[in-house]
Amino acid sequence: MAGSGGVLALILLIVSCCRGVSGAFPATAALRRVAPRAGAGAGGLCDQLLLPLGYPCTEHTVKTKDGFLLSLQHIPHGKNKASESTGPPVFLQHGLFQGGDTWFINSAEQSLGYILADNGFDVWIGNVRGTRWSKGHSTFSVHDKLFWDWSWQELAEYDLLAMLGYVYKVTQSKISYVGHSQGTIMGLAALTMPEIVKMISSAALLCPISYLDHVSASFVLRAVGMHLDQMLLTMGVHQLNFRSDMGVQIVDSLCDGEHVDCNNLLSAITGENCCFNTSRIDYYLEYEPHPSSTKNLHHLFQMIRKGTFTKYDYGLLGNLRRYGHLHPPAFDLSSIPESLPIWMGYGGLDALADVTDVQRTIGELRSTPEVLYIGDYGHIDFVMSVKAKDDVYVDLIRFLREDARHSSY
Ligand SMILES: *[C@@H]1O[C@H](CO)[C@@H](O)[C@H](O)[C@H]1NC(C)=O
Repeated sequence: MAGSGGVLALILLIVSCCRGVSGAFPATAALRRVAPRAGAGAGGLCDQLLLPLGYPCTEHTVKTKDGFLLSLQHIPHGKNKASESTGPPVFLQHGLFQGGDTWFINSAEQSLGYILADNGFDVWIGNVRGTRWSKGHSTFSVHDKLFWDWSWQELAEYDLLAMLGYVYKVTQSKISYVGHSQGTIMGLAALTMPEIVKMISSAALLCPISYLDHVSASFVLRAVGMHLDQMLLTMGVHQLNFRSDMGVQIVDSLCDGEHVDCNNLLSAITGENCCFNTSRIDYYLEYEPHPSSTKNLHHLFQMIRKGTFTKYDYGLLGNLRRYGHLHPPAFDLSSIPESLPIWMGYGGLDALADVTDVQRTIGELRSTPEVLYIGDYGHIDFVMSVKAKDDVYVDLIRFLREDARHSSY
């Protein structure tokens, strides 16, 4: 149930809803200006991004145990590859409100997906349920409440299991896992699961998150304080889509200029980014942000409020029914095998993956990960900085290559 803050927020939201649509909401002018691209129906990620640039790319569909149809892209080699042999498999997992396009959204010289393919890796791209590339389900449509009944816990337990299982079967090889942001929450949770970690040879985590209690992004803290998550669930809003009219209005109601200055919306949400290419914003907006579920937002806000890294909290009785305990079980980072090589890249300006939280994560692992700390990098820089190749990816690739030498390659 929404608390009194939630009720207040609900009223604010309704008031702001009724102010009218055009021009009243300056914070989200760009969200309104740029129409999102059509989804997979108009050609998938391969058709829209990679094939036009001359990269090999095939679309694959995997089905999760709970019926979701996810799209995976396979880039077996770079643009100028003569030989048929493929390199070690690398699986890239995007973050919240992003999709597999994230890894290809800057130029081929700047984006990690292209750079890995050009460096001889066998690249696989994950797209979690609900994103524009993964909207299928065996029973439900996106209009059904049950289509959105999941959080990042299911993204780890079902989506990663299905996607990594597919890559493992096709390549007959252990896989290097690369995740960003929510892709690291899912990744770390999944690495505590024996049936998943057995398929993984190494993990590289960009902006690693397991604990979230030091989040400092003003927009996020205001949404947490207003109980936006409970409010939306109470209102029966299960899909969280910032490209919908309602989503844009929510953003506007949070950006009141007094508590949250959204002149730079991205900074309000993620913190400062050193090397974001602002002249590309309209292009980014053709693809992002992708939808997610309100339940997922609620799970993330539970973590921010409680400082825990646990399964979804259904309340005492709900937890008892589901988990057999009054409290949701924690993901135990110390159960990730010590022998698994881990690399982490994190930034001093990141308002979501805060340095204090990252250090707590590192402290709970049994192994000592290799770390790359960049003082002036923010949350989005690790996937979108125009200098990420030199600042981050060169070292990331060195780590992946060393790992590949130690395994069967
Ligand atoms: C930023 O994006 C614009 C538009 O796509 C592009 O022309 C320019 O080269 C980019 N800048 C850098 C530094 O990559």
